[in-house]
Amino acid sequence: MLARGEQVIGVDNINAYYSVALKESRIADLKPHNGFTFLKQDFADLDGLRKAVGWAEIDRIVHLGAQPGVRYSIDHPMAYATANLTGHLAMLELARGIKGLRHMVYASSSSVYGGNTKLPFSESDAVDHPVSLYAATKRADELMSDTYAHLYGIPQTGLRFFTVYGPSGRPDMAVWLFTEALFDGKPIRLFENGTLLRDFTYVDDIVAGVLAVLDGPPAGERPHRVYNIGNNKPERVTRLVEIIEHATGRKAQTINEPMQPGDVPATYADIDAIRRDHGFEPTTPLEEGVHRFVEWYRGWRGLPA
Ligand SMILES: NC(=O)c1ccc[n+]([C@@H]2O[C@H](COP(=O)([O-])OP(=O)(O)OC[C@H]3O[C@@H](n4cnc5c(N)ncnc54)[C@H](O)[C@@H]3O)[C@@H](O)[C@H]2O)c1
Repeated sequence: MLARGEQVIGVDNINAYYSVALKESRIADLKPHNGFTFLKQDFADLDGLRKAVGWAEIDRIVHLGAQPGVRYSIDHPMAYATANLTGHLAMLELARGIKGLRHMVYASSSSVYGGNTKLPFSESDAVDHPVSLYAATKRADELMSDTYAHLYGIPQTGLRFFTVYGPSGRPDMAVWLFTEALFDGKPIRLFENGTLLRDFTYVDDIVAGVLAVLDGPPAGERPHRVYNIGNNKPERVTRLVEIIEHATGRKAQTINEPMQPGDVPATYADIDAIRRDHGFEPTTPLEEGVHRFVEWYRGWRGLPA
C-alpha cells in the first residue's frame, strides 16, 4: 500500500509470542516511507485504540492482527480470546464508528475447515467442526463480521489464508523451523512421516490478493464475503524438506511423531471464487518461494551466502 503511495497507519502491540526483534525489524523496513505511521497499541483495548487513531481519517482497514498458531492454542487458549475474539470485536466497533468506511478486510484461516475430508476446501463447505481453539476463534470472527455487515452495513471481506510463508515470516511455522534446524545441525520434527499436505502460499501472492480484494468491497444488503486465498497446489511436507535441503545445501535429520492435537491431514484451497471476483492468481512455486526465504534467512542470521 505504501508502494502505491497510500497513507498507512500500522497498529501492533509487538507482543512477545515470537521474537520482538523480528517484529521491530519489519516496522523498521516500513518507517522510511513518508506515508507510514506506526502506533504501538493493543487493538483489543477499544478505548485505547480509538484514542490512538482518533486523529486519522480512515477509509479502509486491513485487519491482520491476531494470536496465530494452531498448536499454541492447545496450551494457551486465553491468548486467543483476547486477540481474536475481543480484538476482532473491537476492530468491528472501531469500524462501526468510522463514517463512510469503504471496506474492512480481515484475516480468517484455512483452519476453519477443521478435519473436512472433501478436497479442495471450498467456501460453500460446512465449517461447523473446528479441531483447534484457534480455528474456532477465526470462525467466530467470520460470524461476528457477518452480523456487523447485517446490522450496520459495514462492507467486509474475510480471507481464509492457507499456510503463508516467505521472507520475514513467522518463526513458529514449518518453513522457518526446518530452515533453522538445518543450519543449526538439529533434527526436525516430522508428523506422520511428513505425509501431511499443505497448500503453502507465498507472501507476495497473498499481498497481491489482499490488495485486489481491498480494492473491490462487496455491496448489497449484507456486504460481507469470505474467500479462500491459497496456492491451489498442496505439497507433502517431505517435499518441503527436500526443497529446504536444496536451498540450504544441508541434509535434514528427522524425528517422526504422530499427528498433534489440533492438526489436520491436508489443506487445499479451491480459489475459483477469489479468482473470478478479484483476479487472484498465485504465481510463486514452492521451490522459488523457499529459496527466497532461505536467502532472506541467511541475511537475518548473518550466515554466509
Ligand atoms: N501465516 C499464516 O500461514 C496464516 C494462516 C492462516 C491465517 N493467518 C492469519 O493471518 C493473520 C496474519 O498472520 P501472520 O502469520 O502475519 O501473524 P503474525 O503473528 O506475524 O502477525 C500478527 C500480529 O498481530 C499482533 N498482535 C497480536 N495481538 C495483538 C493485539 N491484541 N493488539 C495489537 N497487535 C496484536 C502481533 O504482535 C503480530 O505482529 C493473522 O490473523 C493469522 O491468524 C495466518
